Amino acid sequence: MNTLISHGATWAALKQHQQALAQVQMRDLFAQDRQRFEHFSVEACGLFLDYSKNRVTQETLDLLMQMAAEANLKDWIARMFRGEKINNTEQRAVLHVALRNRSNRPILVDGKDVMPEVNAVLAKMRQFCDSVRSGQWRGWTGKSIESVVNIGIGGSDLGPAMVTRALRRYHHPRLKSFFVSNLDSVHLGDTLAQVNPETTLFIIASKTFTTQETLLNAQSARQWLVSQLGDEKAVAKHFVAVSTATDKVSAFGIDTTNMFEFWDWVGGRYSLWSAIGLPCAVIIGMNNFEEMLAGAHDLDKHFETAPFDQNLPVLMGLLQVWYSSFMGASSYAFLPYDYTLKLFPPYLQQLMMESLGKRVTRDGLNIDYATGPVIWGSPGDNGQHAFYQLLHQGTQLIPADVIIALESQYPLPRHQEAVLSNALAQCHVLMKGRTVAETQVELAKKLQGEELRQRIPHSVFPGNQPTNMLVYQKLTPRMLGTLTALYEQSVFVQSVIWGINAFDQWGVELGKQVANSLLPELTGENVGGGYDGSTDGLLKYIRGKK
Ligand code: F6P
Repeated sequence: MNTLISHGATWAALKQHQQALAQVQMRDLFAQDRQRFEHFSVEACGLFLDYSKNRVTQETLDLLMQMAAEANLKDWIARMFRGEKINNTEQRAVLHVALRNRSNRPILVDGKDVMPEVNAVLAKMRQFCDSVRSGQWRGWTGKSIESVVNIGIGGSDLGPAMVTRALRRYHHPRLKSFFVSNLDSVHLGDTLAQVNPETTLFIIASKTFTTQETLLNAQSARQWLVSQLGDEKAVAKHFVAVSTATDKVSAFGIDTTNMFEFWDWVGGRYSLWSAIGLPCAVIIGMNNFEEMLAGAHDLDKHFETAPFDQNLPVLMGLLQVWYSSFMGASSYAFLPYDYTLKLFPPYLQQLMMESLGKRVTRDGLNIDYATGPVIWGSPGDNGQHAFYQLLHQGTQLIPADVIIALESQYPLPRHQEAVLSNALAQCHVLMKGRTVAETQVELAKKLQGEELRQRIPHSVFPGNQPTNMLVYQKLTPRMLGTLTALYEQSVFVQSVIWGINAFDQWGVELGKQVANSLLPELTGENVGGGYDGSTDGLLKYIRGKK
């Protein structure tokens, strides 16, 4: 598409439609249509989506579907699954779907089927995981591994950390896991203080193997290990790497037989399904890891084949476009009422903000509409006692996805009913609010006169805050795969509508470049300045304090 989607007829119709809907209250939409819940809910792959508490009507959905057709969404989905180079600015195919292609149907990149390589790495991962888990893999002094430390950042950290946290009930009883990402030596230092060098395995995870944070942490971990065990040769027993860059792994000093490969057609934030998943695969076992791949594959098949009005990622992606580009929502919240998903919001933050935080189209045209929103969130129950006040009575429109499990991974009497009642209550109140009249009736039970009059404005809830409710039975590895893939594909839907490339991240480069040039200013190797008044002033101040 080399014109903006906003110049098409459907965009104008949606703009007009938004004006007509701007003042409409969802509570009235429910009153008008007794079947609204049935009309606006759908179930697939073990996930039930209630999207009836959105500021939409059937007309909104029809127009959004029309826009999806205008953006050739069907064709784009097919192009991704066919292995076309849809990451145009890097001339790469986008094939995280091949990593979880449990059907094994051939997927071609430059005429070559990638499935044999994918399967070979999975087989190598299985062998490695089995040997660590069984205790056969021995450290330098002959002891079995007890701690697995992943060193990586961004996509080489957030996905595996999220999965490892979510599937704690499936952990191997002997193995502990740690994730080190931050440059601040506190992160590595705190971790090293908790592990024994003789029984620790470091996984150095970096797609490019050039990332400053990862390489510096890996070097320091290596020094620590050698100094503790007293022999360089110990490294081979305690360090493995996951990367696309064999030469750089070898230059770092890791034997490439201990390297797990992936490919440039896997984006960093989409790499959880590749060998980047190794730290979680070791901890939860390869069978569970492959179950997760199977769950993601279930979702991919659904995405490829289900009609758009029954298609979970399509519906959810279009709703996000509706709120960002038409309703003026600049942020979107994720509120899991499933504590195992504690790290899901930060994982989604990278997935969505790095993919959709773009201001030009694939063809480089300046965009004249709002694209990806700010993504944030936390487990819902904790959020209720922290930031929900703003959702209920603040001044911003903040749509949210509320995610609930019917069964906890750790059942205790009465907990799950309490969790569910809170999730349902919050969504109900966010949608319905409480009018002045309703507030008056309620408060009059306890207050009267001037006190009652004064309290009313503080106790009114405007409502009309949209939520999707996503429900599943229990967070098994398969369900986690399905849920995660759902959001990946919903991001793809949004990117296609907006005409942007969801698979590059040029916006992270300049900061890295400037940090590299600033480093010698701080080590004293090159004191040149010339950045800007504030930065030069701060450099001087910091140097003065050393
Ligand atoms: O700086 C951003 C980024 O490139 C992410 O896209 C990526 O997930 C992360 O850094 C880590 O990159 P790598 O896996 O190459 O170390």
